[in-house]
Amino acid sequence: MAEELIVATSTDKKEKYSTLLPQMEALIGEERDVVANLANIAAALKQTLNFFWVGFYLVKENQLVLGPFQGPIACTRIQFGKGVCGAAWKENKTILVPNVDEFPGHIACSSASKSEIVLPAFKNNAVALVLDVDSDQVNDFDETDQQELEKVMRLIEKFL
Ligand code: SME
Repeated sequence: MAEELIVATSTDKKEKYSTLLPQMEALIGEERDVVANLANIAAALKQTLNFFWVGFYLVKENQLVLGPFQGPIACTRIQFGKGVCGAAWKENKTILVPNVDEFPGHIACSSASKSEIVLPAFKNNAVALVLDVDSDQVNDFDETDQQELEKVMRLIEKFL
């Protein structure tokens, strides 16, 4: 396993993701412990892209429960269909919110959060967890984030 993460010095986001993805794959390696892998993935994303908040909510029975994350403390449980995370779970798809104030039902774990992207990972065709990334600026996520973070979700599905 790699001991040090190499972060692209480029200001180009796509390049940062491209440098990160193969390292993430190496970091996971043969490890199959879900919490250990999610913890390192959250840390690697934070270290590379300096997100305000990045972490996971895991489907447990009929709720999403907070998992490994990096950033300020957050809500522990989210109901099915509630907030951006619950909506991504219910709709089985990525939800990109350019301005959280314009998303009905957005759950403000932190008032500093201004834009957000939530992506699901699937196990046996059902959502097993979501990745939530928050920014303290509006309009901070775009198609590059969606495409690249969806690659991360496909990597995660290999150890779920
Ligand atoms: N804003 C999210 C809740 C999770 S926190 O932002 C970490 C939502 O609306 O689902």
